[in-house]
Amino acid sequence: MKFKNKTWVVTAALPYANGELHIGHIRSTYLPTDVFVRYLKANNFKAFSVCGTDEHGTPILVRAIREKKSPQEVVDYYYKVIRKSLEKTGIKFDIFSRTTKRDHYEMTQQIYLRIKKEGYTYRKNVKVFYCKHDRMELPDRLIKGTCPFCGAEDQYGDGCEKCGRTYTPFQLKSPRCAICGRPPEIRERQHIFFSLSEFSEKLRKWVSSEVKLTKGVREHVLKWIEEGLNDWDISRNISWGVPIPDESEQVFYVWFDAPIGYISFTRELFESIGEDWENVWIDGKGYIIHFIGKDIIYHHVLFWPAMLMAAGFALPNEIRVRGFATLEGKKMSKTRGWYIGLEDFISIWNPDYLRFYWAYSTSESLDDGDFNFREFSEKINKILIGEVGNFLHRILVLINRGKITEINLQPEILNEAERYLKHYQNEMINNQLDVGLKIAIEMAGLGNKLLSEKEPWKDLEDPTNRTLVVTLLPIALQAIKMLEPFTPSTIKDFLTNKIGIQIDRLDLLSDKDYTRSILEKLLKSITSLGKIKPIFKKVKEEELDEAKKMLGVNRGEARNDPKER
Ligand code: MSP
Ligand code: ZN
Repeated sequence: MKFKNKTWVVTAALPYANGELHIGHIRSTYLPTDVFVRYLKANNFKAFSVCGTDEHGTPILVRAIREKKSPQEVVDYYYKVIRKSLEKTGIKFDIFSRTTKRDHYEMTQQIYLRIKKEGYTYRKNVKVFYCKHDRMELPDRLIKGTCPFCGAEDQYGDGCEKCGRTYTPFQLKSPRCAICGRPPEIRERQHIFFSLSEFSEKLRKWVSSEVKLTKGVREHVLKWIEEGLNDWDISRNISWGVPIPDESEQVFYVWFDAPIGYISFTRELFESIGEDWENVWIDGKGYIIHFIGKDIIYHHVLFWPAMLMAAGFALPNEIRVRGFATLEGKKMSKTRGWYIGLEDFISIWNPDYLRFYWAYSTSESLDDGDFNFREFSEKINKILIGEVGNFLHRILVLINRGKITEINLQPEILNEAERYLKHYQNEMINNQLDVGLKIAIEMAGLGNKLLSEKEPWKDLEDPTNRTLVVTLLPIALQAIKMLEPFTPSTIKDFLTNKIGIQIDRLDLLSDKDYTRSILEKLLKSITSLGKIKPIFKKVKEEELDEAKKMLGVNRGEARNDPKER
């Protein structure tokens, strides 16, 4: 692999610390990051996964105002909630930090000062809505009023949900503050702008030929560049955010400081383990990948690299984007009760089942994907359990019943299986995680096919049958090692607690001596086991009913809107 000797920094978009995570967040962002980094680590890449909560922004401030808490209390609470649910889902980061840390403030201010010194910022007066009662500037989604086009009432300041048209909040008829309902004032304020437009050419070149993107993402972004990039207002007059140096009242717009978290968290991690963060983020000697959902492409493929260019930092090498999750065909919404939180899911099922479902059905594309209960139970029961689980189970039972301990192997079968492994490696490194998973399943299918054809259970004294069964054992183990990044806790539990073995290599089949040494230990342990228990438990109808009962119940706030640019 060409970049095997580099330091890999793999990031996942920072979740807003103002709500719990739901099953959708992990589809586009957290699961693909985790699967990929587990894969890299199992292959001895020097890889680090970096994430943390995004703790600034107006929505957090608004929530605090509504709940009569301080913004710090809100983010302290959700930091813990988010961190815990990721851990329970088996999503592990080398660092999971927070954008309210001192070090992050310092990094943000330093980067800003470099950008300013290079001459890429300027001040400009802008018209803003201001609520005297709440004493704050009101961004688009904190203004409500009547749509100037269709007359629908109670619409947000950025666009109408009834007729679908977009507009500026100043076009709304009878505008009101969305917090207190009073009419706001219009004020002139000096804001700080970042000269994004000056980067059009550099960005075009970078997007066309330097950063690795899918064709779909690249075309989208080139179209935006073609339409013309506007300079970007990076300041806000609110009381929550990273203070802008030399500006007494202003803080950075949350989308300015949030991506800098990728750097400040890397530095925090690297300083704690004696690695050199500048090697990656300044000298450009590492390999940087961002995993994100499709709603934040603009921020990651235009704003962020332009900031890095302006400040003289290294640019990401790849940005990996996936589409949104829907639930039974409809957009998820907390207020309408059409929603499954990560914690809700885990309270009923093994989180590995959600991981398997999404990984199986999510390709590298902008297409949205649906969580559907019927399909969920079929995928788990027929594919995860019916193909992989059963194959493994059948082999273990046959070895146990036939008391097979002699290691006679059929090399042709092993060689064929090894080709699956090579194919898998290739797909996994290239972000085709769903394809990688399907190869692991096909490998189990190969074993199932041989079992059905040869029916070795009919005579377990027969040496040919015994040889076939032993040959299929490393194939079954290889298949579950390939499955491990997807369903890690079940597989770890199975290997260590149920059959008592550690297999530390992902490429089990590539080294025949290693395969033998594993088999020697394993055959002894399998033949001495009592009854063999299946690795996975089926999804039951009652569980589906229980989960469906959670739907249709209002759980308060909608997801983290506003997401203004
Ligand atoms: N805080 C910003 C990201 C800053 S990165 C410097 C943010 N946070 S978020 O909590 O709204 O979203 C976190 C991640 O989850 C994003 O990658 C987003 O695209 C993704 N998803 C949010 N809702 C989703 C679905 N319904 N389906 C799939 N992914 C979703 O954006
Ligand atoms: Zn108000």
